[in-house]
Amino acid sequence: MKQYDLELLNIGKVYPGGNSAVEAFDLQVEPGEFISFVGPSGCGKTTTLRMIAGLEDITSGKLLIRGRDYTSVSAERRPTSTIFQNYAIFPHMTVRQNIGFGLDVRKVEAGDKKRRVDAIIDKLQLGDVAGAKEGSLSGGQKQRLALARGLVTEPDILLLDEPLGALDANLRKSIQEELKLLQRSLNITFVFVTHAQSEALSMGDRVVVMNDGRVEQISAPYELYTRPKSPFVARFIGRNNLFEGTLKEIRKDRVVVNTVFGTLRGTPGFDVERARSGSEAIVVVPSEYIEIDGAGTKAADPDFDSVDGVVRSVDQVGQLVYPTIVIDGGRELRLETYAEKVAGRGIEPGGRVTLRWKPVRATVVFDQ
Ligand SMILES: Nc1ncnc2c1ncn2[C@@H]1O[C@H](COP(=O)(O)OP(=O)(O)OP(=O)(O)O)[C@@H](O)[C@H]1O
Ligand SMILES: [Mg+2]
Repeated sequence: MKQYDLELLNIGKVYPGGNSAVEAFDLQVEPGEFISFVGPSGCGKTTTLRMIAGLEDITSGKLLIRGRDYTSVSAERRPTSTIFQNYAIFPHMTVRQNIGFGLDVRKVEAGDKKRRVDAIIDKLQLGDVAGAKEGSLSGGQKQRLALARGLVTEPDILLLDEPLGALDANLRKSIQEELKLLQRSLNITFVFVTHAQSEALSMGDRVVVMNDGRVEQISAPYELYTRPKSPFVARFIGRNNLFEGTLKEIRKDRVVVNTVFGTLRGTPGFDVERARSGSEAIVVVPSEYIEIDGAGTKAADPDFDSVDGVVRSVDQVGQLVYPTIVIDGGRELRLETYAEKVAGRGIEPGGRVTLRWKPVRATVVFDQ
């Protein structure tokens, strides 16, 4: 049987008082995988992470780590380490003491402790500040110290709850890259919580999208971005345009939807066995795949789906252009494209335009 590093089998959490924070969460994590959890505030990310860490009781379901049942095992006996957003660094201890603390708690023998602390200080380049205290560390150094503390106990799984939330945008970007490289070189499984979709997509080998205590979708980043499986994911991830309608034709690899903008085609993002014609559905088209031209300048082409509209405004930021289009039927879309792609095409306020895309780029979803 295949051995996963981490398995969540239908786990759920009901807080005392009856608040159901997580329901029926199922996940299998491969050894060395980088998993991101993303979702709006209050959707249950931290609760799930704390259940994995043993900091919160699991109300229902099972938790396995490397095949062993840890559902009721206490936090200090789990092969996990947790890094929190505020790092929880001890201000009265030096960097070296902060790193060694977790080994003291585990009663690691002095020689072994020194060797492990030295190795991690070296790995995370904290040698210059080993004797310093929290007050004199930069944001990036604090972040590396938090990582060092998490890693020095040699966990099987590192759990990170919005660990970059306190950093400014530039530092955050460079630490994202460092963290990803570090994870690759250590080959330790990371479970990384964030509410920034770009961070979840750029860091994760797979991304778990959560909504209101439930898993909406678990996919590799590109798949998630291009093939949402639910209306929630289509709205939450990427820059999608949504066209509501009713299912007209359902085939395994292609569905047709009647909308007020005409019939539109797409790949089903759902189990076609469970779909009925006449049900409500949404055609999801990523902005990146939509071409914009002056109306009537391109001959009708059966390989494309299209809608017509009028340009309301055009914003430009550097090379990127954001036309806002009011499509016939009254709906507004904001597209993102490159200046060179629209130059000389009459894309200006008041102009009539045609938006078109290849149906293979569209995904059809509905609330199941
Ligand atoms: N100790 C608690 N007792 C009761 N309810 C709680 C407790 N902790 C969290 N909750 C509730 O559980 C739900 C999930 O909270 P959680 O902290 O897991 O969300 P989150 O996805 O981490 O949100 P954020 O992005 O804001 O950190 C929320 O409705 C929250 O109010
Ligand atoms: Mg949280």
